[in-house]
Amino acid sequence: MELPKIQSVTDLVGKRVLLRLDLNVPIENGVIKDDFRLKKSLATLDFLRNKQVKVIIVSHSESGLSHSLHPVFDYLSKSHLMRFIPDFTSSEGTQMLKDMQTDEVVMIENIRQYHGEMENDPAFAKSLADFADIYVNDAFSVSHREHATIVGLPKLLPSYCGLLFQKEVEELSKVLTPPHPFLFILGGAKFRTKMPVIKKYLDIANFVFIGGALAHPVWSSMGYEMGDSIMPDSDVGLDLEFTKNNEKLCLPVDASVETSDGLVSKNPNQIKPGEIISDAGPLTLRKLAALIKVSKFIVWNGPLGNYEKGFKAGTLELARLIMESDAQSIIGGGDTLAVVDELQAEDKFSFVSTGGGALLDFLAQGGTLPGIEALLASPKR
Ligand code: 3PG
Repeated sequence: MELPKIQSVTDLVGKRVLLRLDLNVPIENGVIKDDFRLKKSLATLDFLRNKQVKVIIVSHSESGLSHSLHPVFDYLSKSHLMRFIPDFTSSEGTQMLKDMQTDEVVMIENIRQYHGEMENDPAFAKSLADFADIYVNDAFSVSHREHATIVGLPKLLPSYCGLLFQKEVEELSKVLTPPHPFLFILGGAKFRTKMPVIKKYLDIANFVFIGGALAHPVWSSMGYEMGDSIMPDSDVGLDLEFTKNNEKLCLPVDASVETSDGLVSKNPNQIKPGEIISDAGPLTLRKLAALIKVSKFIVWNGPLGNYEKGFKAGTLELARLIMESDAQSIIGGGDTLAVVDELQAEDKFSFVSTGGGALLDFLAQGGTLPGIEALLASPKR
């Protein structure tokens, strides 16, 4: 697969470039809690700023009360001079875009404020494309979405991918033909997206470890009581047949459980009604340490415990075990990134992906995404 790269364009000077970034970062009370994605987005922005172009930044935000990108604009404005457009469809917004000068950068407010974005409305895509000569997708982590700024714009403009996008595809493609022994660790609670990945990687990896809430329906299917632990909604309709008698599938062997006596380590068959599994237990971490020790390649996505509620110990320990091993390691996903941030440890892993759902879909779909297909099929280059 030869991606169309922005570096291949020779006549960029003076062009209007619509740059799709993923600036969707956790924001609390207007304060950015994790700037990993923002830092990773700067390479393409800087590349374009050196090419004497007009850059129109487009992104979504699902965080904070107002879902506004303004806190991100404030953050980026500290190092990059730019202007903010609250509504590009208003007469002021339209005028600002028309009046852009070479070397100018503008950022449009949360693109999901317009219905046309998530509905992938061709007319909406055209209303944006009319302001640009070139489209650059550097939002790999949104490229599993069939939204107007991901799959609609490549139909209308000469389209390329940015530097972060290229790096993500290059690094994550290694998972498709991995060195062995290969250990895949999946945690968290996104049952619908993660179960197909587990199923697929039982064919590719040597060991697939299911941690966090993902283990609960598997234990439940073995007849164990799960108390009030997180379980998939009844409409998810999981088919767990593939988890039976599979020697490559590794489950936790104990859990840290909230009981009336406080937090207690228990075997999965000892959980009582009303109790809640909140983290991995010590025996599970020992089992993971042994698997990590014999592995040459490790992919990890998702926490081992209820990370958002503060049950972080198991996940932090897993991160340390991977950091200390000699194996190549690729990690990604929201809570996994929070761990990297907490430990200030990005350089201890071979690659830290900005993708969450996109990373999983890329791996489940054998190395492609709707946003990649749209770039490859763009008729305008
Ligand atoms: C992410 O946070 O994974 C991306 O920004 C995509 O966001 P979404 O799940 O809201 O589409």
